[in-house]
Amino acid sequence: MKSIHFSCKKHGIRRRIPSIGLALVLLISLASCASSCTELERTSLLQFLTELSQNADLIKFWQGTDCCKWEGIGCDKNGTVTTVSLPYKGLEGRISQSLGNLTDLQHLNLSHNSLSGGLPLGLVSSSSIIVLDISFNQLSGDLHELPSSTHGYSLQVLNISSNLFTGHFTSTTWKGMQNLIALNASNNSFTGQIPSHLCNISPSFSVLELCYNKLSGGIPPGLGNCSNLRILKAGHNNLSGILPKELFNVTLLEHLSFSSNGLQGTLDGTHIIKLSNMAILDLGENKFSGMIPDSIGQLKRLQELHLNYNSMSGELPSTLSNCKNLITIDLKSNIFSGELNKVNFSNFPNLKTLDIMRNNFSGTIPESIYSCRNLIALRLSSNKFHGQLSEGLGNLKSLSFLSLANNCFSNITNALQILQRSKNLTTLILGPNFMNETMPDDTTINGLDNLQVLAIPDCLLSGKMPFWISELENLEILFLQGNRLSGPIPTWINTLGFLFYLDISNNSLTGEIPRALMTMPMLTSETAAHYDPRIFDLPVYEGPSFQYRKPIAFPKVLNLSSNKVTGVIPPEIGQLKALISLDISCNNLTGPVPPSIGNLTNLEVLDLSNNNLTEF
Ligand SMILES: *[C@@H]1O[C@H](CO)[C@@H](O)[C@H](O)[C@H]1NC(C)=O
Ligand SMILES: *[C@@H]1O[C@H](CO)[C@@H](O)[C@H](O)[C@H]1NC(C)=O
Ligand SMILES: *[C@@H]1O[C@H](CO)[C@@H](O)[C@H](O)[C@H]1NC(C)=O
Ligand SMILES: *[C@@H]1O[C@H](CO)[C@@H](O)[C@H](O)[C@H]1NC(C)=O
Ligand SMILES: *[C@@H]1O[C@H](CO)[C@@H](O)[C@H](O)[C@H]1NC(C)=O
Ligand SMILES: *[C@@H]1O[C@H](CO)[C@@H](O)[C@H](O)[C@H]1NC(C)=O
Ligand SMILES: *[C@@H]1O[C@H](CO)[C@@H](O)[C@H](O)[C@H]1NC(C)=O
Ligand SMILES: *[C@@H]1O[C@H](CO)[C@@H](O)[C@H](O)[C@H]1NC(C)=O
Ligand SMILES: *[C@@H]1O[C@H](CO)[C@@H](O)[C@H](O)[C@H]1NC(C)=O
Ligand SMILES: *[C@@H]1O[C@H](CO)[C@@H](O)[C@H](O)[C@H]1NC(C)=O
Ligand SMILES: *[C@@H]1O[C@H](CO)[C@@H](O)[C@H](O)[C@H]1NC(C)=O
Ligand SMILES: *[C@@H]1O[C@H](CO)[C@@H](O)[C@H](O)[C@H]1NC(C)=O
Repeated sequence: MKSIHFSCKKHGIRRRIPSIGLALVLLISLASCASSCTELERTSLLQFLTELSQNADLIKFWQGTDCCKWEGIGCDKNGTVTTVSLPYKGLEGRISQSLGNLTDLQHLNLSHNSLSGGLPLGLVSSSSIIVLDISFNQLSGDLHELPSSTHGYSLQVLNISSNLFTGHFTSTTWKGMQNLIALNASNNSFTGQIPSHLCNISPSFSVLELCYNKLSGGIPPGLGNCSNLRILKAGHNNLSGILPKELFNVTLLEHLSFSSNGLQGTLDGTHIIKLSNMAILDLGENKFSGMIPDSIGQLKRLQELHLNYNSMSGELPSTLSNCKNLITIDLKSNIFSGELNKVNFSNFPNLKTLDIMRNNFSGTIPESIYSCRNLIALRLSSNKFHGQLSEGLGNLKSLSFLSLANNCFSNITNALQILQRSKNLTTLILGPNFMNETMPDDTTINGLDNLQVLAIPDCLLSGKMPFWISELENLEILFLQGNRLSGPIPTWINTLGFLFYLDISNNSLTGEIPRALMTMPMLTSETAAHYDPRIFDLPVYEGPSFQYRKPIAFPKVLNLSSNKVTGVIPPEIGQLKALISLDISCNNLTGPVPPSIGNLTNLEVLDLSNNNLTEF
């Protein structure tokens, strides 16, 4: 039982309860206030239920005359329904108009259901509803014309995000909403422009989220009047133009995100300095150019800086070192240049992610990075860094993701000896680097126990497939293609119980295909014996736009092509039932193609070409 109502709304009589005789009073009050909510409220709620096509058995729980006691229903002291909260209830069907009959309803939360049809606009324009959350449903239609409200709109928080709403998102829809504080319309298909007058209408307006829609046009200068705006997110739309200077008058802004639009222009230092409350600045995937202004150092509260996928250039300003609360720095795919040494990374004790992939940075890795003890993901790939890794790297005990690919680092022996001290490494992408060196086959390399992904491709390393790899017992994905590894494919390969992606193509491996390879645990079982739910700390790129977010998303692959493998294809190849791609082309295999290959029913790629094979 949720609550007992000691006063009776119908008569407006308050009963003071003496502590003696409580039971008696209880009896009386229950008897005389048998229905705490009104009959209209009760039938309106039941009406709402019957209009649903799927009501998750709520009907079983909505028994008795006092609807205040029903699951998800809340009343005030007088027994008037003020709250209807039914998130995650599996509700399907339409939202009934009848909810509009709950004249004192203040909070309506129907989020995370499968409701469809339109949103009864009477709810939005209600004179009582303060918080309306219908996010994560399949509601559709547009919001053009809200019925005018004689008592004025009460709405403060409206969350219509993650639905199927369409139509123009216009200022006129919101013209009477003088109490609106937060509006979340993300993840719909609204068109038109960002409404410019929201803040003239509602002075306390503070949260506007419009991500993942089809909004176009420029960012309205009118937003500069939003003196209380703290969160402004309109990423993943088709916005164009520049950041209007008026926007920088919104000095309370803490979170500004316009990622993935068509915005351009530069970040003006004299403007940006005004946003001193900024914690999250996300302008990634636009067309911004120019340098990061020195005044960025004035944004003392900055935690996340995302400028990825733009055309920004120049050196990183040393003043960035003043942003001591930084947790994430994402500058990938720009044309930044110069050395990183000007930035004092030891000022970022909270830094977790540094991604500067695909820029023109040069020089060596600054030692100060190694004092970022909380660093989880570090990606320096596709720049012009050189030199040997320093001992300090081993101090990064939290480091889980490291990519150094496409630079000019040297001494792979040294690199691996240092990296084995970073015990939390799960993803290690080293090549191309270390050109023409020798693959270390050093038994002292043994600390990379958590490694799931190891990539040392395209380094032209000589030597053989090193034994220390056999000790990476969690390894799932191994790239060693594009080296000069010689000797046989090792027979220990099947001891890697989780390995499901093996690319050792373009080497000089000799000998026969070992029987061991035909018993790889992850390739012989069709059911993913080992389901690794992990998400990469940073997406792993294959080409400029193709990315993997989870190791498990990689296909099951065996690629031995372009080696010097001889002998026959073992008939046991038919056991590798899980394989999606089998490439043994460009070797020196002889004999018949075993019929058991026909048992590899999951194959999407099979390349046996450029061998000396005969028909079945
Ligand atoms: C709710 O009010 C409407 C009029 O706005 C009326 O037609 C309807 O019958 C009422 N519903 C219930 C369940 O009382
Ligand atoms: C309860 O009803 C009384 C009398 O009608 C009213 O004065 C009071 O404001 C009501 N209380 C609430 C919480 O609505
Ligand atoms: C609605 O309920 C969901 C699930 O409990 C919750 O996450 C959300 O914050 C609620 N909405 C509002 C506006 O409180
Ligand atoms: C909907 O948005 C409001 C305001 O931003 C927020 O309080 C609420 O938690 C959101 N609902 C869900 C389910 O996230
Ligand atoms: C707004 O909606 C989006 C998508 O439904 C959600 O991811 C986000 O957390 C919401 N914002 C708030 C403040 O609730
Ligand atoms: C910003 O606000 C100041 C006063 O607070 C005002 O003088 C100025 O005109 C505003 N600038 C813009 C671009 O709106
Ligand atoms: C290493 O990773 C584990 C699992 O993700 C985590 O719980 C632990 O805190 C990490 N260790 C350090 C030093 O960060
Ligand atoms: C490479 O590193 C190893 C181990 O740290 C060291 O002994 C060797 O001298 C280094 N080689 C070069 C050329 O610096
Ligand atoms: C590596 O060796 C190849 C030829 O064997 C040569 O063309 C290339 O310049 C060498 N690269 C480096 C970085 O030494
Ligand atoms: C393939 O093997 C045959 C016989 O063992 C040998 O004569 C030939 O040179 C090899 N071809 C290549 C390209 O290695
Ligand atoms: C294919 O697999 C089936 C069942 O595992 C087996 O009975 C059959 O012999 C296999 N065929 C070949 C040609 O290996
Ligand atoms: C292919 O095999 C035949 C017969 O075994 C042999 O005569 C020939 O030299 C082989 N060709 C190559 C390119 O290895």
